[in-house]
Amino acid sequence: MDTDIMQKYLEAGRIASKVRNETAKAVEDNMRLIDIAEYSENLIYEMGAKAAFPCNISVNEIASHYTPEYGIQRIAADDLVKIDIGVHIDGYIADTATTIEVGTNRNNILIRAAEKALDAAIKIVREDINTKQLGTVIENVIKSYNCTSVTDLTGHSIDRYTIHSGINIPNQANTSFGNTLHAGDVIAIEPFTTRGPGRIKQGETRIFGLLHNKKQNHPEYQNLLSQFNTLPFTRRWMQNPDKLEKIRRFLRRYPVLIESDGYPVAQIEHTIIVNKHGCKVITD
Ligand code: CO
Repeated sequence: MDTDIMQKYLEAGRIASKVRNETAKAVEDNMRLIDIAEYSENLIYEMGAKAAFPCNISVNEIASHYTPEYGIQRIAADDLVKIDIGVHIDGYIADTATTIEVGTNRNNILIRAAEKALDAAIKIVREDINTKQLGTVIENVIKSYNCTSVTDLTGHSIDRYTIHSGINIPNQANTSFGNTLHAGDVIAIEPFTTRGPGRIKQGETRIFGLLHNKKQNHPEYQNLLSQFNTLPFTRRWMQNPDKLEKIRRFLRRYPVLIESDGYPVAQIEHTIIVNKHGCKVITD
């Protein structure tokens, strides 16, 4: 990897890590979700980077892709809260998440299992490893804590201005299909844990992205493209959210992902860069 690009990834990672920690610290009982999201997104800009996607605040059985749109929802005591942060510099993305409990420790085992699974996967990453091996380590560690891995969700490879660039990092042992990783690959590994069956159902969509379309010249498409490129965005970030409907055919949708049986879910995520003998964690 070019040293200039590496510097941008490292800086995006440093900021993402700081913003994740500061946001997690700020979460309190009765806080409005929208205030947490805006605090986190503003911090990214204050530190000189841009948000690579809207701050995800996914509570309890909601596993991912939830961002608040209005000021109604608040954090409650006992909530299990996932904070998922994306930061980019010039399109080079760092993606990281953590989970906190508000006022209790009753889901600590879910958080610990996800942390240990991520640590174990990071330990074995190196050039030429197959993603199947990562999935096997992740699910086995989670099972050793008597928790369930949410195998419908996966980590992902990252490319410039592209959050999911084609390779999945499974959270499941012995998948039939895998990919070999190469030095310079950027990947986000994100185990999700629960006590339920660990299946996922989809909810409403709150996060959108533009589909690649060089010929699309609708003014709103061009307007959004100039602001977000093909990275995900929220209606909160649009000057005129009503216009979303006009370009619906050119949108990628990121529906809210929910544990099918309503069990709380924990998630821990880091972005890493693969090298010859291991990897560099950019969001630790
Ligand atoms: Co991710």
